[in-house]
Amino acid sequence: MTARRLPGRLRPAARRVLGAGALLLAVLLLAGCGDGAQSSFDTNSEPSRLIERLFWWMVLGAAVVFGGAVALLAISWFRRSRSGIPLFGEREPVATTAVVTFGIVIPILTLAGLFTAANVLVMRKTNAPAPSSTSMTIEVVGRQWFWEFRYPGTDAVTANELHIPTQTRINLVVQTADVIHSFWVPQLNRKIDAIPGKSNRILLYADAPGTYRGQCSEFCGLQHAHMSLRVYAEPKAQFDGWLRNEASPAPELASAEAARGRDVFMSEACASCHTIRGTEARGEVGPDLTHVGGRQTLAALTIPNTAADMAKWITNPQAVKPGNKMPGLRLTPDETKAIVAYLQRLE
Ligand code: CUA
Repeated sequence: MTARRLPGRLRPAARRVLGAGALLLAVLLLAGCGDGAQSSFDTNSEPSRLIERLFWWMVLGAAVVFGGAVALLAISWFRRSRSGIPLFGEREPVATTAVVTFGIVIPILTLAGLFTAANVLVMRKTNAPAPSSTSMTIEVVGRQWFWEFRYPGTDAVTANELHIPTQTRINLVVQTADVIHSFWVPQLNRKIDAIPGKSNRILLYADAPGTYRGQCSEFCGLQHAHMSLRVYAEPKAQFDGWLRNEASPAPELASAEAARGRDVFMSEACASCHTIRGTEARGEVGPDLTHVGGRQTLAALTIPNTAADMAKWITNPQAVKPGNKMPGLRLTPDETKAIVAYLQRLE
């Protein structure tokens, strides 16, 4: 085998390998969508079920139209290659019927049917609810790069982890403090954009208790991919307890180290960017930390909320989430440890 021949022989094989690789990648990517953590196929509310059903009807419609086109292509190819007679030659009447049926009639009927289903049936039922048909309102503010949640009528403000009562129609009002974001929890409903200067609304409803992952779905800058959220749907009594605690000022401190951490927090730049209700910290750049110790994650689900991870985050925020607004403050290890003890205490 000469070196000259090799590329020519390998080319078809290489193409097959590339094709198989692309297919495998697609399968793996799609498999990632179905793990239940953030999936449109693991639905937990009526709107998300309607969306899932519409998706499968669209797949079916696309399969029919695509299958018809491929079948026509195959017929023309085989007839032409066997007899040498072009499809549009002597057999024109049959060919014209097939082309009109699969190329025009079926696609128009399919698209018209899907358009009607999407706009009349699904869009209407997933649209913003009439506020009078809902039991509570929650305000969402998208920020680069975290989510702020407010519960009107209470002082509760939290970040990235949204608690809601199950089987309750919630009027979710979505806004932004900077650029366009998009709030999306696929298991509960469709996306809703956060547009500067505008309040958009959507229905949030969970059939059953559980945690539902969400993600900003509009590119909003460097850390767009790390702008995640989690919805905790809880039975009403449990949610009420959570809301009561969340609305209350920061708890009393139990240890001397936590008290020292509070003093460092208040004297450093922390207090000018974060709010801790019940203290002099009233910054509005970063998330409200009044009950940060009660959250499971930090930095919009980027890291778990453990003492070790929080210390890493405070020591070098840009290493964890490059481009975010939190500066490294050059604290001593002791100061960092004290701040972590303080913040972990804020449950
Ligand atoms: Cu916020 Cu993407």
